[in-house]
This record gives sequence, structure tokens and C-alpha cells, in this order.
Amino acid sequence: MKKILTQELLLSLTADKPSISPKFFYDAIGSHLFDVITLLEEYYPTRTEKWIMDAYQRDIADAVDDCDVLLDLGAGNCAKASRLFDAIEPKQYWALDISKEYLEAAVADLQKQFPHIEMSAHALDLSLPLSFPDLQKLRKIFFFPGSSIGNYDPEKADQFFANIAYECHGNGGLLIGVDLVKDDETLHLAYNDPLGVTAAFNLNALLNVNRLIGSNFNLQDWEHYAFFNASKSRIEMHLRALTDVEVVLPGNGTQDHLISFNAGDLIHTENSYKYTQERFVEKLRRAGFDDIHCWTDPSDYFLVCFANANKPS
Ligand code: AVI
Repeated sequence: MKKILTQELLLSLTADKPSISPKFFYDAIGSHLFDVITLLEEYYPTRTEKWIMDAYQRDIADAVDDCDVLLDLGAGNCAKASRLFDAIEPKQYWALDISKEYLEAAVADLQKQFPHIEMSAHALDLSLPLSFPDLQKLRKIFFFPGSSIGNYDPEKADQFFANIAYECHGNGGLLIGVDLVKDDETLHLAYNDPLGVTAAFNLNALLNVNRLIGSNFNLQDWEHYAFFNASKSRIEMHLRALTDVEVVLPGNGTQDHLISFNAGDLIHTENSYKYTQERFVEKLRRAGFDDIHCWTDPSDYFLVCFANANKPS
């Protein structure tokens, strides 16, 4: 594993535009830092999505209609989906996330509160195609909240939607939350909070990489840099070198790799795409969804959609 990760990081860090995948954010510290981000005044997406889902719970349930299985993609602590259980009344709940162990504990707790719903925890790597052959005949509702789709490049998001539309086999749909384009200042502050939590979240990727592959990134050499790239409609997060830096990636039995950065050089760590409602709905339609319902908050900061999958032709 260490060898594969070293190879992956060597390639991404020595590319024309050096990058570190956002998956390296989410070790134990990074996951906690993300939880803190969601509590920040400046980071509006989490509380705004919750507001929409609470305010329009009944309408969402009406749009979803029947739900044999609720598939929670990236379930985490299952809190977001469970708030909808009373309204949507799923017969089965599948919690899916990268770590099954963590999920199992959350699902066991939830099962006590909702004994009538059949629940299970499943390991899922969202970077791979989804497939649920055992559920083919059931009406499946896929749940993908939190604007996680914003972290996918647009082409990857299209493939992901097409994959879900196909997996519905004409009976089911997608309930999804996505962040909307808004004024620059609000966007900027959400990713540049004065307390520095997002900066810590970004810098922690370097500590995680050090721990995983034994490299020697020094946090003092790097700063958080995030801005809204209007032409690409995305927040870009980078780490910027404060000085000339040399980093060693251990070769694991072969020669070590030395990577040099000049002061001012960037390592790209994340994109967070922001959509307009029209563009997002169009994207869902192109991927094979129709009968699309949309809900927003009074400031139009965030969008929740339920989209029914088309019947296969
Ligand atoms: C997880 N994801 C939706 C967050 C976002 O807003 O793109 C990750 C994040 N990055 C910095 N702050 C939050």
C-alpha cells in the first residue's frame, strides 16, 4: 500500500501542475477538522442544506414517493439520512462509506431508534462504479447530500449521475444537495475562515501524507491558499510554498525521491464546483433523469434536488 501511495504522490507532485488528491484530507484529524468547518458561521452549506431538508421534508417525501431502499452514499454518522426517515419511510436503509467499521457502530445505534427499518452497513469506494444487482427489482433512492458532488470534476459528475440513473433500472431516483454560485465574498469567506480551520484542514493533508509514506513536508514551509475561479465556477484550494522547499519521498528499498519547489509554487488540493440551478438540472437530465424537483433556501445559497431516473429505452 505504501509503495502504491508513494508512486501516486510522486506522479501527482511532479506533474506540470502539482497536486495532492483531496482523499488525503480525511484522516482522523482531517475528519474532525471537517466536522468543525461545518459548524463555522462562514461555512454556510451544511446548515443551509439542513434548513432546506427540514423546511421541505413533506415535499421531498412526496416527490420521492415510495422508497424500498434508501442508499446513503458517504453516510458518515448517518445523521442526515436519519432525519428524513419519518418522512420518507424507507423499508431498507443501506449506509455506504469507505470505512465499514465506523459505519457499523452508527447503524447499530440507529437501528435501536428505528427497529422497523431493515438496516445494513457496506464498504463503498465512490471512485469506483456503483453496482447493486441484488436490489434490481426494488425502488432505490440514492442519497448524496453535502455538495460532495461539487468535489467531482464535471465530467466525473456526469459519469457518476449516469451510473446512478442506470442502477435505478427505471424505478428510483437521486436525492442530492449541491452548492450554488453566489457572490465572491461569501464564497471566499467559506473557504478562508478567520479562525483558520479550513487552513488547518488543508495543511493537514501534508501531515497525513508524511504519516502514510514517510515524506518530510514541513508545515512551516506552506500556507493555505483558496480562491473562487469564476471562469471554472469553482473554489480552488492549494498549498503555497512560502520558501524554496525540498521534500524527500522515501523510496522503500529503492532510491529516495527528491522533489523541489520554489517559493510561491502551488500544490492543488481540491476543487469545489458551484452550480446554477439551471446548469445542475440540465446535467441531471443529460445523465438520464427526469421529473426533477428543486428546493432552495431564501438566499438561494444551496440547492436540494430529487430526480427520478428515466425508464430504460
Ligand atoms: C466535502 N466538501 C463538500 C467540502 C466542500 O465544501 O467542497 C470540503 C471542504 N473543503 C474545504 N472546506 C470544505
